[in-house]
Amino acid sequence: MKLLVTGGAGFIGSNFIHYMLGTHPDVQIVNMDALTYAGNLENLAAVSGDARYTFVKGDIAEAAEVDEIFAAHSFDAVLNFAAESHVDRSLHHGAAAFIRANVLGTQLLLDAARERGVPRFVQISTDEVYGSLGPEGAFSESTPVAPNNPYAATKAGADFLALAAHRSHGLDVVITRCSNNYGPYQFPEKLIPLMIGNALEDKPLPVYGDGLHVRDWLYVEDHCSAIDAVLQRGRTGEVYNIGGMNDVPNLHVVKTLLQSLGKPESLIQFVKDRPGHDRRYAMDATRMRDELGWSPRYTFEEGLKRTVDWYLANGEWLARVRSGVYESYYERMYAGR
Ligand code: NAD
Ligand code: DAU
Repeated sequence: MKLLVTGGAGFIGSNFIHYMLGTHPDVQIVNMDALTYAGNLENLAAVSGDARYTFVKGDIAEAAEVDEIFAAHSFDAVLNFAAESHVDRSLHHGAAAFIRANVLGTQLLLDAARERGVPRFVQISTDEVYGSLGPEGAFSESTPVAPNNPYAATKAGADFLALAAHRSHGLDVVITRCSNNYGPYQFPEKLIPLMIGNALEDKPLPVYGDGLHVRDWLYVEDHCSAIDAVLQRGRTGEVYNIGGMNDVPNLHVVKTLLQSLGKPESLIQFVKDRPGHDRRYAMDATRMRDELGWSPRYTFEEGLKRTVDWYLANGEWLARVRSGVYESYYERMYAGR
């Protein structure tokens, strides 16, 4: 089984590569990644010498680079993780990069997969395409797509293009929509690693609004096992919701982290809310469970403990990622909030 993994130097993509190489002795993986600010080859240092793994620096939004990689390999499947992934950047730093990578990039991959007859295309999407929930209920696969921020809108666009490639051209496409992930190698612009990094340096922990926005947290390895199940057994043309069945308010997450790090709650600082901030996400992952026999392995408590332990054991990784360009990003994003 030869896989093209795009965006494999990012958070979930790198965890997926580790997961697949660790669980499938016969797999071969080509990782195509443009190495944006979020791509980090350090995440893959442990597998860089593995004969089953190849890295290609390439941009999915450049047709010539996409063609080149499809001409050089015969893939059994494409898994498209590559994306601009941070909501705040899409709101405050301009959405053009999101349209380019998430929409144009996905279309170029779909075209190449169709032209080369690739048997399966897995589009890695997100629960954010559904918009925001009221106090009750959960997103199912039939919930209407109604994104509220530019990032989510580009991911929704990519989903529609992927479904169009299936319906119009018969490409074997499967879409996964997952809730919030956390775990090793997550870039510290996202809530959990940001809060761990700040707490370790005794810096303020910026909580948006009233801190009562709810996310459904899933340990990244559980997302990887879900994608593997969809890759192997997902029905063509279908969407699969993936979630942790663990919806908690942000403030609860932040307080739990402070407790496990032995830091005071006085570090919490309420700051100006994110514009259009989705109030609540929750996933109904019944289809994953009933059709594909998938369920998460880790509880939130176990996952969070593993995550905190990983960041404590990998202080140099965190320090390197939080230095240089990151510092000016942080200053621009949070100053005056
Ligand atoms: P990330 O930002 O950590 O990594 C994205 C990776 O894509 C980086 O390595 C980056 O270099 C690469 N990339 C960006 N633009 C590219 C381009 N034009 N060509 C090639 N590579 C490019 O993101 P993540 O959190 O690992 O998310 C991965 C995927 O999972 C995304 O599609 C995201 O929408 C989706 N997702 C994320 C979450 C989450 O909680 N993080 C949840 C559900 C779905
Ligand atoms: O739901 C899946 C999505 O989860 C993915 O599609 C996105 O790629 C991923 O970035 C993530 O989006 P969120 O916006 O939910 O994640 P983030 O970590 O940015 O924020 C989580 C919650 O925490 C959200 O309600 C905003 C809040 N927050 C975030 C940051 C960075 C804060 O209160 N303070 C912060 O500094």
